[in-house]
Amino acid sequence: MGDMAAFIQGLPKAELHVHIEGTFEPALMFEIAGRHGVTLPYASVADLAAAYEFGNLQEFLDLYYQGMNVLIAEQDFYDLTWAYLQRARAQNVLHTEIFFDPQAHTARGVAFTTVVDGISRALDDGRETLGISSRLIMCFLRDKSAAEADAALDQALDHRDRIIGVGLDSAEIGHPPAKFRDVFARARAAGLRTVAHAGEEAPADYVWQALDDLGVERIDHGNRALDDDALVERLARDGIALTMCPLSNLRLRVIDDMRRHPLRALMERGVRVTINSDDPAYFGGYVNENFRAVQEALSLSKAELAAIARTSFTASFLDQADKDAFVARLDAHAASA
Ligand code: ADE
Ligand code: ZN
Repeated sequence: MGDMAAFIQGLPKAELHVHIEGTFEPALMFEIAGRHGVTLPYASVADLAAAYEFGNLQEFLDLYYQGMNVLIAEQDFYDLTWAYLQRARAQNVLHTEIFFDPQAHTARGVAFTTVVDGISRALDDGRETLGISSRLIMCFLRDKSAAEADAALDQALDHRDRIIGVGLDSAEIGHPPAKFRDVFARARAAGLRTVAHAGEEAPADYVWQALDDLGVERIDHGNRALDDDALVERLARDGIALTMCPLSNLRLRVIDDMRRHPLRALMERGVRVTINSDDPAYFGGYVNENFRAVQEALSLSKAELAAIARTSFTASFLDQADKDAFVARLDAHAASA
């Protein structure tokens, strides 16, 4: 391992943007399908992996929703989450804030409780046996109605002890944040934290809406913010962190070349940025592969990488004492490099 790769591997970090259903590796998908006697429309693990060629977000989402159809039992959600936690821990991810898409499961007749219980049991075991800290964020599917989001929020409030916040994902264009103003207001009133995917494929206006109509604390992706100077200033002034996902952006053709990724330009203008994996089973890498890809393409220094990792902790939903403890570990690593 090269010096920079070793530095990235050893860097204590938090992951703030990962969809648990997007960590579903082909081998585990075949195993769980087999358990339920379901036949996947692919002859082998290699055939399935070879189908992961995407022209845009929607082409990915079609396979993503198809893949998760084999998740049925509580143990399936446990196994999915446990596999991710082991990989995260091996990459020195010390804290992770995981998204899940309950509407994609309840629409298939899987109970909300089955999903939350399976994921949560793995998170508890991860805390105890791997020492990995975690939180769970429920995402609303923006291509479904506001009324359906309301129903999902009601269910989340029945599991309030397990769910720290809400987010907004799925097909972006044509489904602006403002459509979910009321349900986000209700979530905030209930004390939930808030984030939203915005400016991944859709223009900067969607980022403004996420801030002004939804009141979110972080923006997931936010690539297109760079098109709008006033928005960049707003993000910098208010300290709104972006959870960026470089390999996802490349694979979904949000960017055509990693050297044109907006992360560095945003950081230089004072915006808080983090590096995350989004849907690592589909996009060819977990957090460290994302760090390495963007480091090489944008020639980021160790100090810049450490600053990004520091932001991953300070922009998390941990309490201040936990943030301070993680940042101290990070600073010790950066100082010894
Ligand atoms: N769901 C899973 N990954 C997503 C992404 N990158 N954008 C929107 N919705 C998603
Ligand atoms: Zn995402």
